[in-house]
Amino acid sequence: MPDALAAVILAAGQGTRMKSSRPKVLHEVAGQPMLNHVIRGAQMLGATPIIAVIGHGSEQVRAACAAPGVNFALQAEQLGTGHALQCAASALAGFAGNLLLLCGDVPLLRAETLQELLDHHRAEQATVTVLTAILANAHGYGRIIRGAGGVEKIVEEKDATPMERSVGEINTGIYLFAAPRVFALLAGLTNDNAQGEYYLTDVIAAARAAGERVAALAVAEAEESMGINDRIQLAQAGAAMRARINTAHMRAGVTLIDPVATYIDPQVTIGADSVIHPGVHLHGNTVIGRDCVLEPGVIVTDCTLADRVHVKAGSVLAEAQVGADTDIGPMAHLRPGTVLAGENKIGNFVETKKATIGTGSKASHLTYLGDAVIGAGVNVGCGTITCNYDGVHKHVTIIEDDVFVGSDVQFVAPVRIGKGSLIGAGSTITRDVPPDALAITRAEQKTIEGWAARKRKKREERGVRGKE
Ligand code: UD1
Ligand code: CA
Repeated sequence: MPDALAAVILAAGQGTRMKSSRPKVLHEVAGQPMLNHVIRGAQMLGATPIIAVIGHGSEQVRAACAAPGVNFALQAEQLGTGHALQCAASALAGFAGNLLLLCGDVPLLRAETLQELLDHHRAEQATVTVLTAILANAHGYGRIIRGAGGVEKIVEEKDATPMERSVGEINTGIYLFAAPRVFALLAGLTNDNAQGEYYLTDVIAAARAAGERVAALAVAEAEESMGINDRIQLAQAGAAMRARINTAHMRAGVTLIDPVATYIDPQVTIGADSVIHPGVHLHGNTVIGRDCVLEPGVIVTDCTLADRVHVKAGSVLAEAQVGADTDIGPMAHLRPGTVLAGENKIGNFVETKKATIGTGSKASHLTYLGDAVIGAGVNVGCGTITCNYDGVHKHVTIIEDDVFVGSDVQFVAPVRIGKGSLIGAGSTITRDVPPDALAITRAEQKTIEGWAARKRKKREERGVRGKE
């Protein structure tokens, strides 16, 4: 299959300039390790297999970036980019076709750009096609040296003559190669250069020397090819990625009050006419419906929100499902396993965890609902607590439909409250309550008339004597 496509992603380097104990490719851009953005690009092109060459922190990288269709090859010692590709050779044994080479620290490249590069490579029937960029400041990059017959070679900054350094067209480090031909060319490389490394860039001169075709394509937006070497570039790439994500949402009909201060991960989807206020973070596989409002400082991770959900300021939601027409917050905390059927109100300082709550039920203030199964039409009063943990095991509280729970009630689980019952304020419920009952556990009120006045008088008398 000459048209088959495989990808190799170079990700073994340490990233010294990050000054980090974490491998460079695991630093996050828009909420995801930068390597994952690169993997997604290769996946979108349909490359298979995808081989990530890892070295520094390889176990961490493997754990963080494992994905279907992604294999890992180890480069135990970092002897250069050419050597890194060689390390993927055995994983590609028997592969014949186009080989896309990506760098784990170049996360902004769009799949459309990679597709253009692939189309160009196919049209040119080249042994190597390099993606280049024209930069105002080319410092640090390999320069593209062109002659009468096209690209002749790439010269690294450290090996370049002053003449070569004046060239503004640079090597982005992204290529398409003919495989397995590229591995034969790699085998002939030496490390006779300023850095004593096996340079992948030398494949170009080698292909030319063998009389083979070398092609080049300049990327339209140079920013896409930006490589991340330090934390300043990491922040710049994050801002660029967010701008791209946020622009797409706005084009699709989402209002972002201040896109610069809105943090949305790439996989998140948002329905039209939703309004996202500043300081909102939407992470992971979050789905937001239509006509939702997310007020300032809301943080949502791996949640599904149906239409017309209003999340008020400062609320934090994780692994929760929220039905339509629900109001949450301000400052509510929906923790994993929360399932709200819809038309719910979860008010300020309410925390839910592993709680299923039926249609129209409300917990408006200062409440903890954990390991709870709550029916429809339930009113949970202010200050209610499900006591779900006995120090060893978690237990479930079941509250059936249309129960009215007064304020300041504790449910000591396991306990079940029957449909339509009423729980008196201030009760500690330790036993099941049948349907349509009243349960109340308060001690009876004792009122002693005049007691406070007498006490005050005594205090005054003592005070007068004290002064004499
Ligand atoms: C490389 C190119 C340079 C290009 C630049 C674009 C070479 C010799 N130079 O330089 O022409 O302008 O990228 O960003 O290829 N890596 C490994 N194993 C190694 C060495 C590197 O996996 O032994 C990985 C790094 O983790 C990184 C990528 O390869 O993801 C590029 O390596 P880096 O050292 O950053 O190369 P540059 O000096 O930037
Ligand atoms: Ca680099």
